[in-house]
Amino acid sequence: MLRVSSFGGGAQFAAPSSSVSTRTRRTLKTTTTTTTQSSSSSSSFSKQQQQERRRRNKKSSSEISSVLRLSKTEGKSVLKLKRRSFVVMASSEEDVVSSSEEEKELIRKRLSIATKLVHPKTSVEDPYSASAPPLYQTATFAQPNATENGRYDYTRSGNPTRDQLEEQFADIEGATRAFAFSSGMSALATVTRLVKNGERIVTGDDIYGGTSRLLAQVVPEVGIEVVNVDCTDLKAVEEAINGGPTTMVMLESPTNPRLQCIDVRKICEMAKKKGALVCVDNSIMTATFQNPLELGADISMVSATKFIAGHSDVTGGLLAVKGEELAKRVYFFQNACGTLLGPFDCWLALRGIKTMDLRMKRQQENAMKLAEWIDNHPKVQKVNYPGLKSNPFHDVHFSQATGAGSILSFTTGDVNFSKTIVEETKLFKITVSFGGVTSLISLPCFMSHASIPAEVRAARGLPDDLVRISCGIEDAEDLLNDLKRAFEKAEKNKAT
Ligand SMILES: Cc1ncc(COP(=O)(O)O)c(C=O)c1O
Repeated sequence: MLRVSSFGGGAQFAAPSSSVSTRTRRTLKTTTTTTTQSSSSSSSFSKQQQQERRRRNKKSSSEISSVLRLSKTEGKSVLKLKRRSFVVMASSEEDVVSSSEEEKELIRKRLSIATKLVHPKTSVEDPYSASAPPLYQTATFAQPNATENGRYDYTRSGNPTRDQLEEQFADIEGATRAFAFSSGMSALATVTRLVKNGERIVTGDDIYGGTSRLLAQVVPEVGIEVVNVDCTDLKAVEEAINGGPTTMVMLESPTNPRLQCIDVRKICEMAKKKGALVCVDNSIMTATFQNPLELGADISMVSATKFIAGHSDVTGGLLAVKGEELAKRVYFFQNACGTLLGPFDCWLALRGIKTMDLRMKRQQENAMKLAEWIDNHPKVQKVNYPGLKSNPFHDVHFSQATGAGSILSFTTGDVNFSKTIVEETKLFKITVSFGGVTSLISLPCFMSHASIPAEVRAARGLPDDLVRISCGIEDAEDLLNDLKRAFEKAEKNKAT
């Protein structure tokens, strides 16, 4: 079978246009050879079929010459040439081209996330086939003339570096389209724009502090009702959805910081019956471990600040969206409100995302080892980590995810004891956030979740002594020894 490569031909465009023409002539030659071979071997073809083939080949040749002429003028025409030469290589068998395209799509669908991350799918064509994605650090793009627009005109509306990130994210999430924002919060704020005055958002009662603040202090200002409910209680969720004009359900699973896991599939079914959209904040899992769109959600959100970028050097957010209609609405808000992620941050995220699967799996291994040790410590009251078989959410979590991730939290029943552990570790940075290559440790009630009023935290069962750990990629034994030392110090302090 004639094999057609959509990746091929990159190097020919690294040269100036004159050498492009030379290389194309070679391509032409190949085409002719292929056609001849193929014709002679197909004696069973009718005369009419052979005439049709000749007609197609003739047409392709005239198309090439017109493109060749264009190729001598400007970069854009060279890109056209690239596409055309791809068609020419197989134009004697158009059916082969289309079946081969489908085949390629099928092969791609079967690839694992780890592979897709290092072999990104993108419609952005790079005339020089650079190994790393080109960074278009520009606000504007010159247009072909005064009345026609090129693919890009203004970076707020579109930028090739951002397109690459958005397309890659859409690919790994199985989405129609994806959008990159200046932070996870601006991505979530965009989700709330889809809800109108007088409508209701149903969300959890154990959610990230910033999301909680957005939904408690910003969104109600425009007349949207927000109902917080314990999402592990499906009956309560159903009542909250059906008890008012719900048009959006915003979920986290596992939740931050108590790692509660909720039945995303069931809640999506309830929301669908009501005609409401579902957005799942998948920041803790990412596509490596969980696919919200497959579970029935309409929007999968991640804070790219975490595992996507992975090195604590980017603030960003991503939305992967199901369906053209919804995608159009999200794009409208991204452009109208100017909440996009800048080109350089997109570029950093594109660099980071390549190793996401590798990092996340190593981080998960570390988390499992720490969770097992912490779980057996006599001073620990409760460990929140769905990877532990004893965890009440273990089954529901693994019915919808393939890994437990690398975030865990635990309580000691004593704020000072917890504080000493946090402060005495040497390899864990005391900081907010998670998902970076460095291990982090925090007291969420005093840090990431401090914006939730103390009485609300207490009512939601978010205790002050809760310690949250985000495991990095360090050696597990080193992390464990560091944690053991910190626990010993806390015990000594308590004894004196
Ligand atoms: C679960 C979750 N969602 C969203 C966000 C917000 O993301 P960003 O900090 O990128 O705005 C965070 C930040 O910590 C988070 O933990």
